[in-house]
Amino acid sequence: MATQLPTTDIRIGTELIRRRKGATPIVCLTAYTYPIARLLDPHVDLLLVGDSVAMVLHGHETTLGASLEMMIAHGQAVMRGAARACVVVDMPAGSYEDSPAQAVASARRIFGETGCQAVKLEGGVDMAGQIAAIVAADIPVMGHIGLQPQSVEKDGGYKIKGRTDENVAALIADALAVETAGAFSLVVEGTIETVAADITRRIAIPTIGIGASGDCDGQILVIDDMVGLTVDRVPKFVKEYADLRSVIAHAAERYASEVRSREFPGRAHVFSKADGGDEA
Ligand code: KIV
Repeated sequence: MATQLPTTDIRIGTELIRRRKGATPIVCLTAYTYPIARLLDPHVDLLLVGDSVAMVLHGHETTLGASLEMMIAHGQAVMRGAARACVVVDMPAGSYEDSPAQAVASARRIFGETGCQAVKLEGGVDMAGQIAAIVAADIPVMGHIGLQPQSVEKDGGYKIKGRTDENVAALIADALAVETAGAFSLVVEGTIETVAADITRRIAIPTIGIGASGDCDGQILVIDDMVGLTVDRVPKFVKEYADLRSVIAHAAERYASEVRSREFPGRAHVFSKADGGDEA
């Protein structure tokens, strides 16, 4: 099938996102595939090809199942579908933590092979060197602090951050380190609301909240959670704007029943010589 994207739209770049600090909230969603990117592109400012793809589409238990190849393939699919939104691709666990040199090599692959606008990686003070090196290689970086899904095994689960004074101080230090390293924006995930609001006030780059605060400069959700496609438990911070689980189950039930009763395919869905034409 031919890919036909609108040609008149101008791509939202990372600099435009950076300048949206304190302005109209930045609308972000994850996307992993070409059709979903096409559907979301007119409505959002930023599409994140999150490493949550490993869980959402590939059925892995955690995001640790994502690989560089997986992220690049989904990044390419989303880039084919999105003409307008700023597209950010996650760096998977194991592709950047060892050294700034490893981080730059992986970021170059993602950036070069997908044509995305930026990469995202998890970590604060501990990853500042990686962020600075990728930015120095002319690749924009989105940071990610607070609840970091790639650390779920180390943390013993998906734990909310910012409950103790010590942890709040660490989160603020992380946010400042990511900003100083040159990131253009920062995802703040799974924190006490007032802490995310405080971080938003303290840094000059936009914060994108998920389970964080309405005071963040933007919001992001995982697309499958947002449209009610997630079959397992969804976190408290998710609002389901549709119930696609029921829509799909109902469609499958009707299809199965019509195939079994030979109601489908009907006259409208088969070819006869009288129809003319040879297009399916
Ligand atoms: O991988 C992901 O989907 C993410 C967002 C939820 C922020 O990192």
